Amino acid sequence: MELVPIDPDAGDDHPLLRRAAERLRAGGLVAFPTETVYGLGAHALDEAAVARIYAAKGRPAHNPVIVHVADAQAARAVVAEWTPHAELLARRFWPGPLTLVLPKGADVPASVVAGLAKVGVRVPAHPLALALLRAARVPVAAPSANRSNEVSPTTARHVVESLEGADVLVLDGGACSVGIESTVVDVSGPRPVLLRPGGVARDELERALGVPIATVEEVRDDAPRAAPGMLKKHYSTRAPLATTPHGDLAALRARLLRAPTPRAALVFESAARELRGEPLVVAMPDDPRAYARRLYAALRELDARAPALIVVESPPPGVAWDALRDRLSRAAAGADDAAG
Ligand code: TXA
Ligand code: MG
Repeated sequence: MELVPIDPDAGDDHPLLRRAAERLRAGGLVAFPTETVYGLGAHALDEAAVARIYAAKGRPAHNPVIVHVADAQAARAVVAEWTPHAELLARRFWPGPLTLVLPKGADVPASVVAGLAKVGVRVPAHPLALALLRAARVPVAAPSANRSNEVSPTTARHVVESLEGADVLVLDGGACSVGIESTVVDVSGPRPVLLRPGGVARDELERALGVPIATVEEVRDDAPRAAPGMLKKHYSTRAPLATTPHGDLAALRARLLRAPTPRAALVFESAARELRGEPLVVAMPDDPRAYARRLYAALRELDARAPALIVVESPPPGVAWDALRDRLSRAAAGADDAAG
């Protein structure tokens, strides 16, 4: 593991970028910032390189990896079919926190897509990621740069903490501006399907497309996977995590006080004021974008104190909070009965 700081606007000719690009082309792993979270990148058309991603993350083989490219033209090269919906969304949201799922191109190894017939492809909106992709001149498979099931990394330090011991070059380009993963939408058929809510909200997609987007019923961990990789229990802290309804201070307090100490809470401002005296309380912003930017770092900070329980006040209703509600409910899955 090697951590190198680099100016996000370093430009394609920066020696560190060239070195990172060379490492990718040679089959090595490079962790790099995107606007959503840090990615753990490998040459997407090199089976052995892709295998290194799965090994470093401890990732189950049934969870497909997103392919990152520098522009829409490069995206067309890794898919077998570029649909009108793909064109609309790519024009409107790329570069950006949106992954399009399309029929897979013949060159993409089965391991990248976990044996599926479709591939997820995305153009990230981060100057360093784009410079790296241009310099690499190959598509780059990159899941979030954390051990499987952990909270995604939004700083280079998170990557180092998560993947300690792995043979990875980590480019430190600062904190991620979006803070949660991309929205994943299948645009291969006549009706687009939302596979994972994320950085682009569903209503924004529907407005751009002019048609409604279907959602997949969340699959159980032990059932056949309609939405691969969408494990019910995911994005987890080490400590058990429980959610309470938005604005319900009594429920929040009751849940928290039932847990042994040390116990932690991740709540909105007003609730934080009510919890004065409790040592491990993080007050979260009321704006969904600011909340997303802060969430994973805040969870990691609390988790590092090894609490018996982290109680999270759920975000309010509304489509702008969909992705955050999704991540928190996955983080809480299975933990609601733990730790008192
Ligand atoms: O923002 C992001 O998407 C980040 C950055 C690094 O780009 N990447 C990311 O990758 O979150 P990962 O591997 O942690 O999550 C990728 C998810 C998979 O779990 C799966 O749900 C979906 O994207 N996915 C990827 N390829 C797919 C495919 N071929 N078919 C269906 N879903 C796919
Ligand atoms: Mg991930």
